[in-house]
Amino acid sequence: MLEIKPISEKFGADIVGLQLDEISDATFEEIYAAWLKYGVLRFRDQHMDEDGLQCFSQRFGPLEEIPVGRLPEEIKKKITNIYVTVISNIVENGKPIGGLGSGEANWHSDMTYVETPPPASVLLGVEIPPAGGDTWFADQYAAYEGLPADLKERIAGLSIKHDAAHTSVGELRPGFEAFDDPRNAPGAVHPIVSTHPESGRKCLYLGRREWACVVGLELGESEALLDELWSYAARDENVIKQIWTPGDVIIWDNRCTLHRRDEIDPSHRRLLRRCQVLARQAS
Ligand code: SIN
Repeated sequence: MLEIKPISEKFGADIVGLQLDEISDATFEEIYAAWLKYGVLRFRDQHMDEDGLQCFSQRFGPLEEIPVGRLPEEIKKKITNIYVTVISNIVENGKPIGGLGSGEANWHSDMTYVETPPPASVLLGVEIPPAGGDTWFADQYAAYEGLPADLKERIAGLSIKHDAAHTSVGELRPGFEAFDDPRNAPGAVHPIVSTHPESGRKCLYLGRREWACVVGLELGESEALLDELWSYAARDENVIKQIWTPGDVIIWDNRCTLHRRDEIDPSHRRLLRRCQVLARQAS
């Protein structure tokens, strides 16, 4: 039996007493069920390198390959596992060794700007600063349940266009042009209220606030509705915080959670490794 310690009443859980590179298929099935139930799972003290992270992550589904073609040469040369991205603020010889730097990352779920976003993301803590860089998660089932009835009615049937051009730290991605009006943002359109394909429960699906727009509304109306929805998205009672220690592995369900990250003092090194789990193709 899996030992599960909920982090808050309904959201997030620690799974204790196991090494992820030694689990049986039966234990994995229990982990999968706990992940669907709690949205975010944490495993402390894992003795895991990037290949171990890949092996665990791919039990959840196929993994996204690093888009090597779009990376600068210095980063390309350092890739040792094509499925494991480096998230880091470390700069070597004047060049960043990974993505996202030291800045705050705003609330988001991963890659909602594509038609079929990755259902899961997995992070492994490697080098952790003494303070800063905490990662926060918000329960989007609870966010939806907390909406007033009239707001639920207003958003039924509405969709958001999710901007593909900017990263979660607000930088323009390579190959994209700047624009002023969010209605001109490139990116996929998804319903504001999503029904989770595995749990069948309804949740808010907002992606990220910046450069989003509600399809079919005037810009002012869209901005006001998004601001109203975001005021429910990450209320304190629905949020948990991850203070990293080396060896922590966290996996979250992008379909029903948001996450954000605090900024980091650039004089302190931080290095995490990440896998993105893609949706399984329907057979
Ligand atoms: C992310 O948004 O995936 C990065 C989270 C982090 O750096 O803690």
